[in-house]
Amino acid sequence: MGILEVKDVGKRFGGLQALGDVNLSVAENTVHAIIGPNGAGKSTLLNCLVGKLIPDTGSVMFDGQSVLGRTPFEINQMGISRVFQTPEIFGELSVMENMMIPCFAKRDGSFRMHAIENMHNEKDIVEKAEAMLEDMNMADKRHMHSSSMSRGDKRRLEIGMCLAQEPRLLLLDEPTAGMARADTNNTIDLLKQIKEERDITIAIIEHDMHVVFSLSERITVLAQGTPLVEDTPENIKGHPKVREAYLGESA
Ligand SMILES: Nc1ncnc2c1ncn2[C@@H]1O[C@H](COP(=O)(O)OP(=O)(O)OP(=O)(O)O)[C@@H](O)[C@H]1O
Ligand SMILES: [Mg+2]
Repeated sequence: MGILEVKDVGKRFGGLQALGDVNLSVAENTVHAIIGPNGAGKSTLLNCLVGKLIPDTGSVMFDGQSVLGRTPFEINQMGISRVFQTPEIFGELSVMENMMIPCFAKRDGSFRMHAIENMHNEKDIVEKAEAMLEDMNMADKRHMHSSSMSRGDKRRLEIGMCLAQEPRLLLLDEPTAGMARADTNNTIDLLKQIKEERDITIAIIEHDMHVVFSLSERITVLAQGTPLVEDTPENIKGHPKVREAYLGESA
């Protein structure tokens, strides 16, 4: 039994069956990649895991509890954090202020934007945010406006903000999309470091096969809303169905 169990999940948008019968089991403390062509339903699936979408059919269990019908915030409190396809940080705030927000939310179970001015006076929040920035190797950037950072650094900050919530499951939707190769390699190293240092399960959606094969222990290939294959990276690499679905090559 995995820490995340997706059973027979289906989701329609009008006439479009975005997800068919999706079954997925993610084992605790592993890195599990979900790959597939554009429009395969990867982000839709992730949205169903974090309360952004409610599937029409099926069940989603995290550590034995259903996530369905819960708000994104409640799911977050259960131990699931998610990095979006486009970095979601507050550009007008400094790196440090961005990092203090999840520290605050973790401590108080809620967060209001007007609390930002007061956060600097909260010793435990400041200390935790500083420690997280150290962990992310971003301590020297703490005063920077986050909007002025590179895409790689924004992503690094965003991943750190997720970790500040101390998740047991980290979901990443194309964390290296639009990145230069050097930033991509830094992100791979960061995720490897996170995996080594923490008890955490990572589910990652990714187009870049170098990232997928560098990190994952298990891979699910999604095509037209349905899992085609689930296997180890070694077996996935040469799989004819994968070449057909993912690379557009016929077997
Ligand atoms: N809110 C929505 N309303 C209508 N159709 C949607 C909605 N969200 C996604 N879709 C459609 O559902 C299908 C699956 O989309 P999804 O974004 O999950 O694909 P994806 O695998 O994440 O693709 P990509 O690799 O491009 O990010 C696509 O055909 C998409 O156009
Ligand atoms: Mg997507």
